Amino acid sequence: MTGVQAVRGMNDALPQQTPTWQHVESLLRNAFAAYGYREIRLPLVEKTELFARSIGADTDIVTKEMYTFKDRNGDSLSLRPEGTASCVRAGIQHGLFHNQQQRLWYIGPMFRHERPQRGRYRQFHQAGVEAVGWSGPDIDAELIALTARLWGALGLAPPTLQINSLGSPQSRLRYRARLVAFLATRRAELDVDSQRRLDTNPLRILDSKSEQTQEVVAEAPTILDDLDDPSREHFAELCRYLDAAGIVYEINPRLMRGLDYYNHTVFEWITTALGAQGTVCAGGRYDGLVELLGGRPVPAAGFAIGLERVVDLLKPQHELRQTPDVFVVTLGAQARQLGFTLGERLRDRGLQVEYYCGDGGLKNQMKRADKSGAAIALLLGEDELESGIVTLKPLRLSASQRRVPLCDAEAATTKLVNESENASNEH
Ligand code: HAM
Repeated sequence: MTGVQAVRGMNDALPQQTPTWQHVESLLRNAFAAYGYREIRLPLVEKTELFARSIGADTDIVTKEMYTFKDRNGDSLSLRPEGTASCVRAGIQHGLFHNQQQRLWYIGPMFRHERPQRGRYRQFHQAGVEAVGWSGPDIDAELIALTARLWGALGLAPPTLQINSLGSPQSRLRYRARLVAFLATRRAELDVDSQRRLDTNPLRILDSKSEQTQEVVAEAPTILDDLDDPSREHFAELCRYLDAAGIVYEINPRLMRGLDYYNHTVFEWITTALGAQGTVCAGGRYDGLVELLGGRPVPAAGFAIGLERVVDLLKPQHELRQTPDVFVVTLGAQARQLGFTLGERLRDRGLQVEYYCGDGGLKNQMKRADKSGAAIALLLGEDELESGIVTLKPLRLSASQRRVPLCDAEAATTKLVNESENASNEH
């Protein structure tokens, strides 16, 4: 019988990969805290209706990509394809938006049944941020500044920032009518998918991947011409904030986003370093969503970062490894026990200690100690026991080994670990 494999498009993060994930997650937490955002934890499963109503019943996500199933009592549930809908649902349910503004963030797996390829998975991870209760362009700018700061903290060359405005719902409707009128005259030149969208979700035709459709789209009217004065001013002010903060951007009037809830500002950070799936972060304003989901009207904006894509970008630059400070090597039953308790005492001092469990010759154990990447090997053999000493062998530095009295072992080990750390920081 062949072994059971993971579901296609759903990946394991192996021990050599998790340090990079942890590194990214910890920088994210710091960046969110620096702007006053607080964490919210949300369920992975919600009622299907929540996503259909918020993301849009005609979107690709809802029509083709959701993992939807019947609960035992017949309710239709879905694995969450994104976090905004859940975040807004939770905020309404718990009264978080009642006369209050909220800066929230979340992190975790999302599920979409897309065709897997590099950067596109069926289970993927997002870190999302939602600012609920502010209507001005300054919070849009804050969201963008937060992400810009994050690229810096991660040591990444900033991806390209594209921004656009979808305006108010009214200006969007006006534009939609104008776009449909234009595209209807060129219907035969559109790809089949776009022809279908002309009747269901025409704005999505603008970011069609089909070259032939893109040639038509290049001649289409743009939404920026249909903005009403307040929308135009919101967008102009956002640009002024970004200019003042020194954040470089491109205005892409064809940037529409694949979810229906957006209005006014939308943005994407796009890199060319990852092949076809280059959007590492995307978001925008969604002023109508809280009301649409049953709350009082409250403006809101947010974004989500695709963590697999960020981890992929970091790969060439980062060889992070989780390594112990000390590896305990023992020979003989008595030394084994002493080494075990010594390990516990070193952990009490905050050190990371790996203990060689089970029987093993010196050579084997030393090989394992080297492989572990530990700073120090602590050796306890019969000789050592008899004379009441331990041997400390630096593994990362070319310093010679030291023999110290058993009663000093903890202090001496801690000191040597610190020395080794300082020396490697200097390099
Ligand atoms: P989204 O554009 O659907 O927006 O996803 C945001 C990001 O998640 C994408 O830019 C990409 O980096 C990542 N992503 C999406 N699908 C996949 C996939 N199949 N595999 C790997 N990564 C993927 C949203 O989800 C909105 N909720 C963002 C938002 C928050 N807008 C306002 N607040």
